[in-house]
Amino acid sequence: MTSAPIAVALDAPDLETAARWAAAVTPHVSTVKVGLELYLRYGPDVIASVRGATGVQVFLDLKLHDIPNTVAGAARAVARLKPAILTVHAAGGRAMIQAAVDAVPNTCIAAVTALTSLSEDDLERLGVRGPSGDAVRRLAVEAVGAGARALVCSPREVAAVRAEVGPDITLITPGVRPVGSDTQDQARVATPEQAIADGADLLVIGRPITGSADPGATAAGIAAALRRVVPS
Ligand code: C5P
Repeated sequence: MTSAPIAVALDAPDLETAARWAAAVTPHVSTVKVGLELYLRYGPDVIASVRGATGVQVFLDLKLHDIPNTVAGAARAVARLKPAILTVHAAGGRAMIQAAVDAVPNTCIAAVTALTSLSEDDLERLGVRGPSGDAVRRLAVEAVGAGARALVCSPREVAAVRAEVGPDITLITPGVRPVGSDTQDQARVATPEQAIADGADLLVIGRPITGSADPGATAAGIAAALRRVVPS
């Protein structure tokens, strides 16, 4: 049985909790995601702690955004940790994305289109005119043109982005909420089944799993529901 296309966001307050969550979910999901807070607090050692002995894929969500030379250096600095996926901001532009892609040939560079926390008003104030979906599509096309093989976008935008970039690009969607779970601060959500049906390849799910009484059982339940829509 292959594990489900889920990246569990290990947004834990401490390393022990992150490692415990990772061990609980690893039998059921393909990937665990380490974000900025955990990485900045504990440094590179966090990767070995969450990877354990299982060889689960690690998604290093550092959302790099700087001049190309600096991003290339930062990407090279984490290459030895062998993350399966490393994020950069698509808004960093073509040369920056390309520098990241060239710096870590064995890691999939995923470009974050527009943060789902930004409303249309926020984008307008930043000078991004027109519907946010248009900006997301433009950023997606730029990132793919620069060599990114994966994109991060909201599940509400995934179908439009898929239509724009074709079948070969990995689409990663946060903002995923199983039916009946709390949306918390995520505004634009979809169920795991809907996100997959719309063309997502990897679902980022955090608190619905890690905030549950039994993260392993919750991950197993979502994985089973997904297998009904995408048989392994
Ligand atoms: O707990 P929850 O399922 O909301 O976790 C979502 C994860 O995805 C968090 O780690 C968050 O930082 C990340 N993320 C997001 N929206 C984006 C990009 C990343 O929620 N646009």
